[in-house]
Amino acid sequence: IGGVKIAKDDVVRESDPANNVPDSIFSKIGLQLHRRDNHPIGILKNTIYDYFDTNFPAKFAKFDDLCPIVSVKQNFDDVLVPADHVSRSYNDTYYVDAQTVLRCHTSAHQAELLRKGHSHFLVTGDVYRRDSIDSTHYPVFHQMEGFRVFSPDEWAGSGMDGTSYAAMDLKKSLEGLAKHLFGAVDMRWVDTYFPFTNPSFELEIYFQEKWMEVLGCGVTEQEILKRNGRMDHVAWAFGLGLERLAMVLFDIPDIRLFWSNDQRFTSQFSEGKLGVKFKSFSKYPPCYKDMSFWISDAFTENNLCEVVRGIAGDLVEEVKLIDNFTNKKGMTSHCYRIAYRSMERSLTDEEINQLQWSVREAVQNKLNVILR
Ligand code: PHE
Repeated sequence: IGGVKIAKDDVVRESDPANNVPDSIFSKIGLQLHRRDNHPIGILKNTIYDYFDTNFPAKFAKFDDLCPIVSVKQNFDDVLVPADHVSRSYNDTYYVDAQTVLRCHTSAHQAELLRKGHSHFLVTGDVYRRDSIDSTHYPVFHQMEGFRVFSPDEWAGSGMDGTSYAAMDLKKSLEGLAKHLFGAVDMRWVDTYFPFTNPSFELEIYFQEKWMEVLGCGVTEQEILKRNGRMDHVAWAFGLGLERLAMVLFDIPDIRLFWSNDQRFTSQFSEGKLGVKFKSFSKYPPCYKDMSFWISDAFTENNLCEVVRGIAGDLVEEVKLIDNFTNKKGMTSHCYRIAYRSMERSLTDEEINQLQWSVREAVQNKLNVILR
């Protein structure tokens, strides 16, 4: 879909009850921030490419134009995500229809690329997750996946079994990458769980006085290799979130800025220049509005955030639960504080009041709650 915008009508059957992708999300498909060489996300992608080009004898094939609309099979089944895993829920993932999702990770492409015969590859792309709203979470963000397959002769002489060999190579490769991006920093490995790797790890670095998670990775489950024509091989895989890293490398305080077309943002970055510190051009004051309602059983914070974003778009900076109680009759009340702020201009009281009224109306109509 190289940079081509997708219209919702082209892919969603009208009023398909299985579709939970709003227009605001459809409008992001095809923007491909990761393919702009002067954008922080593109600059970071290219810097990681450089690392793999210079430090590995075998060339990694690079994919940054794979369609983000994938099947449930690609996104979940092919990477062994269990049938009851939360990530499959409508609350966490955008479903175009019952069999089709907006990929929630670039791991959705592992199996197809293995089947095509690739054994070293990097996949970069936009990924989509339903989530709450704050300065570091946005329903569309970018990931890079790395994957490397080893054939038995590669570890034969090492005195190690294949899994240990792959784990060792993985850690060495990713420590090198972290150093390439952050310079000499303290690092640590934390054991974790992913359905598609075993063992699984997270890499953390000590940066600006705290431990920060940089990526998830591990030794690929044998079952994935076996199903895709690589019996007797081993592999490693990693996935990293580009926004999270770009925010610290470029000092970008709010994840919404990546989507800004304001010259005062875009003009600050140029090709090949990683880590130029972003200079804030405005700190317009936020405006807070509270909203209380009795929830129903089906209420979720992700649904609320989707409705708020549907009305206020990128003018909403944060949606935060500030009070929560259950009365004697067993009814539960939530109070949310919504922070409105534009990064580009100051908002008038009138405009914010209008927004808040529209938000209240939409919340009442769409979420089956009782406003108080
Ligand atoms: N897909 C995982 C995520 O989105 C990251 C990952 C990729 C972990 C590859 C292990 C191996 O969180």
